[in-house]
Amino acid sequence: MYFPAYRPRRLRRNENLRRMVRETHLRVDDLIYPMFSAFGENIKKEIGSMPGIYQQSIEHIVAEAKEVYALGIPAVILFGIPEEKDALGSDAYCATGIIQETVRAIKKELPELLVITDVCMCEYTDHGHCGVIKDGDVDNDATLELLAKEALSHVQAGADIVAPSDMMDGRVGAIRDVLDDHGFDRIPIMSYAVKYASAYYGPFREAAESTPEFGDRRSYQMDPANRLEALREANQDLAEAADFLMVKPALAYLDVLRELKDNFDLPLVAYNVSGEYSMIKAAAEKGWIDGERVMLETLLGMKRAGADLIITYHAKEVAGLLQR
Ligand code: PBG
Ligand code: ZN
Repeated sequence: MYFPAYRPRRLRRNENLRRMVRETHLRVDDLIYPMFSAFGENIKKEIGSMPGIYQQSIEHIVAEAKEVYALGIPAVILFGIPEEKDALGSDAYCATGIIQETVRAIKKELPELLVITDVCMCEYTDHGHCGVIKDGDVDNDATLELLAKEALSHVQAGADIVAPSDMMDGRVGAIRDVLDDHGFDRIPIMSYAVKYASAYYGPFREAAESTPEFGDRRSYQMDPANRLEALREANQDLAEAADFLMVKPALAYLDVLRELKDNFDLPLVAYNVSGEYSMIKAAAEKGWIDGERVMLETLLGMKRAGADLIITYHAKEVAGLLQR
């Protein structure tokens, strides 16, 4: 059936028709809101490159988590800025570390809000790398032990889901083992399965104060040129019993999202990262784009590409718009 019998414009004539044939939807259920918890009291410091996003001490985090919950957003993901950093990132797996205290404080006030914790070493190490340094590079297997300790300690504090973002080989399995050994077999692992060495993380590193002191992350994060490798990474994490798979960043990797959606049946998460957020905010501030529409179109594109869930700094704005 071709033109003139077939006329695609017939189904675009008015908004009700368009609503009826719309294939993809952004829903509040899809959103996960990232938060930066800083050691100290009465801290609420806006991140220069991320308008509306703050480093906050625990009481402010709890207050914002209440807003997030009231908007109907099901989950937050937490990043920590500890009081002190050291070579082995001790605060990451300390029972009274920044994340452990934050999780306890949120869960006490909001037991139903899902708290996901980012499991990595870079926010806690003085050198800013995602693991233990040996001979000038991150040592994979030594790092696994620390990541497992970190994940366990987050869960003992009350975390509902752990999300390893370090890109060490074998970390999902190492974390699964330690959680199961301690009776936490019901806690899901959201794996940053496919995480690229990306310049889009720039603003986050300001927010989390986690820029590497030397070198870069290319010996552990993936080469942006690779698609087939993403399938191998995802396969490996599936074999290690990951419960969610993630692709990060999202915007420049929509093809990778689609690839994973077509090949795996696990819930798929897109991380709409800091640089993607900052670009929209900056262009909107200059009056060059309609920030709200570009935001919605961008997130919808991620869902159309195959994402089931989106971690996004826009979550509160989107949830507000969806409520209207
Ligand atoms: C930690 C981590 C990073 C992000 C999430 N977890 C930074 C990095 O790997 O350098 C980036 C998130 C963002 O840019 O919004 N490993
Ligand atoms: Zn890291």
